Amino acid sequence: MNCKIPIIDYLLHNKAYRMRKQKGFPGWDSKEDTEKSIREMEELFAMISLPKQATVLDLGCGAGNLSFWLESKGYEVYAADVAAEAIDWARDEANKRGSSVRFTVSDASGTMPYANESFHLIMDNHALHCIIGKDRAGYLQNIYKYLKPGTHYIVSTMSYEGDGNDAPPGFDPHSRCIVRGKVATRYLGTAKSILTEIASAGFSILHNRVERDNEGNAELFVIAQKPHIN
Ligand SMILES: C[S@@+](CC[C@H](N)C(=O)[O-])C[C@H]1O[C@@H](n2cnc3c(N)ncnc32)[C@H](O)[C@@H]1O
Repeated sequence: MNCKIPIIDYLLHNKAYRMRKQKGFPGWDSKEDTEKSIREMEELFAMISLPKQATVLDLGCGAGNLSFWLESKGYEVYAADVAAEAIDWARDEANKRGSSVRFTVSDASGTMPYANESFHLIMDNHALHCIIGKDRAGYLQNIYKYLKPGTHYIVSTMSYEGDGNDAPPGFDPHSRCIVRGKVATRYLGTAKSILTEIASAGFSILHNRVERDNEGNAELFVIAQKPHIN
């Protein structure tokens, strides 16, 4: 992966959250798309076994809708997002629900406030495609570091197989990023290249499949496993 777009600005997500709140969305996505994400995650979770009271991390949690779903399954839930607007929104909602999810503002490609091997599972619903350039390696290294041996990283991420002709607006074929103004907002690797990145961070790929979303964009679903200790 070689993204040469110079500007990365993860904090632009704050503005996006303000707009989504004004539109009456429950978080990043509409109610329907949030429910669809939960159904997709249910399917992936059914393919692994987790301890009943597993400690799980929702990475790039946004306004926390999937974090609350994880909590409803009985897990101890931590959740992190780079956008303070999203975490404020999630905490407000947590107060209303009496939720104990521990929400944190944190850039997942940098140092995070977790001890090594903290989690039985890290779930990433649509955050990986927000991570640009060399930050992607740091992001995946964090996931590896914070997972216990033998446990899983579950991710749903945009991918794109083409060379640009049928690409989403703003796609730069050189970097494979979607560029708004001068800012690279999304990285659209091929499914194969994304699987290679995840494997290069030390994971085994247990499951992967590509599906089309409502707008015809490709979505890659992956279950990756950190090796057991020998
Ligand atoms: C497409 S949204 C999905 C939000 C949430 N997972 C959901 O399903 O509603 C992607 C999220 O990733 C977050 N994000 C982007 N870059 C990040 C980073 N470097 N560290 C942590 N979170 C990040 C964004 O702020 C945004 O909330």
